[in-house]
Parts: sequence; C-alpha cells; structure tokens
Amino acid sequence: MSNLTNILSKKEFSQNDLEYMLGCSSDEAQVLYSAANQTRIRHSGNKVYMRGLIEISNICSKNCFYCGIRKGNTHVTRYQLSEDEVLAATQIAVNHQLGSVVIQGGELSSPQWTSFIEKLILKIRKQSQQKLGITLSLGEQTEETYQKWFNAGAHRYLLRIESSNQNLYSAIHPSDNHHSFSKRVECLSLLKKIGFQTDTGVMIGLPGQNLAMLAEDLRTMQDLDIDMCGMGPYIEHHETPLYSSKEQLIPVRERFDLSLRMVAILRLMMKDINIAATTAMETITTQGRIMAFQAGANIVMPNITPQVYLPHYLLYDNKTGTSNPTETTLEKIISEIQLAGYEPGMSEWGDSVHYKNRQK
Ligand code: 5AD
Ligand code: SF4
Repeated sequence: MSNLTNILSKKEFSQNDLEYMLGCSSDEAQVLYSAANQTRIRHSGNKVYMRGLIEISNICSKNCFYCGIRKGNTHVTRYQLSEDEVLAATQIAVNHQLGSVVIQGGELSSPQWTSFIEKLILKIRKQSQQKLGITLSLGEQTEETYQKWFNAGAHRYLLRIESSNQNLYSAIHPSDNHHSFSKRVECLSLLKKIGFQTDTGVMIGLPGQNLAMLAEDLRTMQDLDIDMCGMGPYIEHHETPLYSSKEQLIPVRERFDLSLRMVAILRLMMKDINIAATTAMETITTQGRIMAFQAGANIVMPNITPQVYLPHYLLYDNKTGTSNPTETTLEKIISEIQLAGYEPGMSEWGDSVHYKNRQK
C-alpha cells in the first residue's frame, strides 16, 4: 500500500499524515482530490450552493499587513453602499434564485454602523418574505452587536482566523490591541455561543508559513467544530507592508495547489461542513473554482455588488471579476457548476449538513 493510500484509510490523521498529504506528489494529489470529492458527494451531496456576495463597504479601521483595503492605504477610493443599493442587490439575488447573501465589509465599530446593519437585515428579510438567508462578514464586534444582528435575522458569520499560528498571526498584523489573536479566537467562540453558523478559514502561502503550520490550521478548524470554511491562497497587494516579503513566497501556482490540498484534506476531516471555492483560487487560475469543487468544495459566492464599486474592493492584486456585470458572473458560475457535474442549489439556504446535525 502506498503511503497515501495508507493514510487515506485512517479514521483520524496525525500531524505527520497531514503534512504528508500537503506535500505529496502531484499524482498522489489527484488521488487525494478524488477521495475528497467522493466524501463530499456521500456526506454533503451533489449540490453547490450560491451566496450572493455584497461588498457593502471598503472602509476599514484595521491595518492588516496583507490587505489592499487596509486603513493605511491612502490610494483606495472609499465607499459605503446605501440601504437602497444593498436592497437592489438583494433583489437581484432573489430574482436569480440565489438562496442567500453574504454582506461583507471592512471592520467598523460604532453605534451607527451596528444599527445600520441591524435595520438592513430586517429590511432584507421583509423584502424577501424571510426567504433569503443572511450571512455577515463584518469583522470583530462586541457580543452585544453580534447578538443584535443575530436577533434581527442574520444566521451565519464569516470570520477568518487567517492563521492559527500565533507567531505568524503577529507577523502579518500590527502588534496592538486592535489586532489581537486572542480577540479573534474569542469572537469566534462568541459567535458560536450566540447561535451563528460559524465560518472561518486561513490564507495559504503566507511568507513564513510552512506545512506544519497549515496542518495545525486544519486541526484548529476541526477543534473549533466550524460549520463552514473559506480559505484560499495569499496573493500580494503592491500597496501593503507584506509586499516587501514577496521574495520569500512560493510561486502563486504552488500556493494554489496547496490551497486545493487544504480543501481536499479538510473535506476528508470534516465530511459534512460547507467549504467554499474562493475568489482568490479563481484569481490564480480561471479553472480555480471548478478544480475546488472537484476537490471537495460545495459553496461559491458570486459577487453581486453593484459593478461601479467592484474595482474599489481590491484585497489583493489582479482580483478576478472586477469588471464583470452581475448577470455575466452568475451565468458563468452556474455553467461552471453544471460543467463540473454538480447541481446548482437554487433558492435554498444551503446550510451545512454538519450544522443540521448539530441542531438535532
Ligand atoms: N490575499 C488573499 N486573501 C486576502 N484577504 C485579505 N487580503 C488578502 C490577500 N492579500 C482575505 C483575508 C480576509 C478576507 C476578507 O480576505 O483572509 O479575512
Ligand atoms: Fe480590514 Fe479585513 Fe482587510 Fe484586515 S483583512 S484590513 S480587517 S478588510
């Protein structure tokens, strides 16, 4: 039995097993992807669920070293969508039978922002007769704010841990109270306590990151017992502090391959969670999303932000889809799902089987 076949036959993977799979040959990786795909079909079904992504604002109070819309980047044209603009986007989601939307933005904390989002959630629910699922991705907030948004009707929250390795986390964030690792972990547990379906994830191919750290990331996601995961390659942005470390990076294509392996291994470890085929994967190769579906991903987030704002939400260089009209984006994604042999999950919230089982 080959090393990989031996590992794949195990119920639980050791740190060494995880590192082996992350570093395996490209032939072995094909076997890994196909095992992950079978696991996904058996435990999470054949559907790919779509979440319409609305990038509500690129105004951020944070200064993460890797991110193009960090506060310190003075070359960004800042915007915030009005309530009407968000409601026009959610109407597009309803019209196109997307079962849910994700409201994502920079991290802002103020009573005005909390209440703007709270009212928006109530209006989206009313507009869609409670049918549209609502995910938030608005960074670290107080328990009170999370609770208000949950009470208003949001039911999922995306907050990436970025890296579960504290040293690496510190290396890619300013060292101040506003960027603390423990706060990030605390927020994830608050979200869970409140009742949100929680989604976290990491960036892959960061300077200073190694396979042992990525294996730790996988184990952390399992320990956190997440319902959903979104992870993808780190891609440089030329106006960020981390850009100066670009000589240390592995080539983008290798970051992509490593991301696919992370998706596949996580699928084997957490058979019934939702895993996203991320925009960063699609940015590296036009086949990125399809390859992610075939390696175990079952979620995709078509960007339905009004087109004029797309060029201003550049987290990294060459982000894909920033000039596409919404219709084109949706048609392309639906055809990708079908071409890859899966079924688009229309008008469904698409909660993970993992979450449904947790509720029982
Ligand atoms: N490359 C890849 N992903 C990035 N993100 C931010 N900047 C980058 C980058 N340069 C991701 C982070 C964040 C999410 C909104 O986008 O993981 O949580
Ligand atoms: Fe702000 Fe998020 Fe970018 Fe950090 S990663 S600077 S919190 S938008």
